[in-house]
Amino acid sequence: MFDFLTRSYSRTLEVAGILVCVLIIIPSADAVDALKTCTCLLKECRIELAKCLSNPSCAANVACLQTCNNRPDETECQIKCGDLFENSVVDEFNECAVSRKKCVPMKSDVGEFPAPNPDILVQNFNIADFTGKWFITSGLNPSFDTFDCQLHEFHIEENKLVGNLSWRVKTPDAGFLIRSTQQRFVQDPRYPGILYNHDNEYLHYQDDWYILSSKIENKPDDYVFVYYRGRNDAWDGYGGAVVYARSKALPEAIVPKLEKAAKKVGRDFSKFIKTDNTCGPEPSLVERLEKKVEEGEETIAREVEEFEGEVDKVRKTEMTLFQRLAEGFKVLQEDEQNFLRGLSKEEMEILEDLKMEATEVEKLFGGALPLRKLR
Ligand SMILES: *[C@@H]1O[C@H](CO)[C@@H](O)[C@H](O)[C@H]1NC(C)=O
Repeated sequence: MFDFLTRSYSRTLEVAGILVCVLIIIPSADAVDALKTCTCLLKECRIELAKCLSNPSCAANVACLQTCNNRPDETECQIKCGDLFENSVVDEFNECAVSRKKCVPMKSDVGEFPAPNPDILVQNFNIADFTGKWFITSGLNPSFDTFDCQLHEFHIEENKLVGNLSWRVKTPDAGFLIRSTQQRFVQDPRYPGILYNHDNEYLHYQDDWYILSSKIENKPDDYVFVYYRGRNDAWDGYGGAVVYARSKALPEAIVPKLEKAAKKVGRDFSKFIKTDNTCGPEPSLVERLEKKVEEGEETIAREVEEFEGEVDKVRKTEMTLFQRLAEGFKVLQEDEQNFLRGLSKEEMEILEDLKMEATEVEKLFGGALPLRKLR
């Protein structure tokens, strides 16, 4: 993967752009939509794309996303890539591709995390009681809620609840990265159990918190059970739920209350995942390398198994870059309706160029490009 990256640095933007489009977008969505996304990026976000591909973290993000294509957990995989390779260049690219130029279609709300009826929420909640340090001890959504060492410190500023949030992202070599951000919440004037985190610049994200249950009496078993749903320019209706506690581990005594509260939003508390708040030091480099070797051995063993059992299947699903792009074109040309309502002349021209250059890319990378998914 990283070999592929270093080589791609030296290519021109066009070539890099094709790689991005062919490897990342085309296999992951409907072909016509993918080609539209692709031309949009090349047309509208050229500078951001160029900056991204010359920035190690952003380019690594792109390479990581490539490993997510067609996986059953594609979205979760993409989120993980974003967690690992996060920086201002990635943000800039997303700001262009998602918010400003809308090259990426929005993932629409499928109703997985509906807003709860205010009647089932706590009827009193003093945001000042939230002040101080809390750990997330349990979480519902593995993509957002279950990081290690989620220490959140809250305070009140101008009548808003302000949270300094920090958490750890596991790296593939068994180390971790520390992430942090600040969020601001305004309490709903009518329903004290609803807190809004709106007016955010980045992807215009909005998170709404719904407090299902809480007890804050300055005791070790104090807790706040928060269900949330959110939206941004890329995705409407993501969500999750977390339990805040003053202690690092979930106090068992509150579990019955949490079970009852979870039921009110149609969730089973036994499905929640306990988090690890030991917040220990990062393993030494030697330990991490050992773990990597172990995992490498497992991977090889697994791949041999796959290879023996599924040679034919693998062969069928493997496509060359050019085949992938050609598939996209076939769909485009066959589907006249899509074609008519779809692309402008300019977009078609960019695509024609792409098609030509894809053959060049194919030659350049030849069989060297890992065509099997890097999982
Ligand atoms: C929260 O974070 C901000 C910005 O990083 C910092 O200035 C502030 O002191 C922090 N507040 C608390 C209570 O930790």
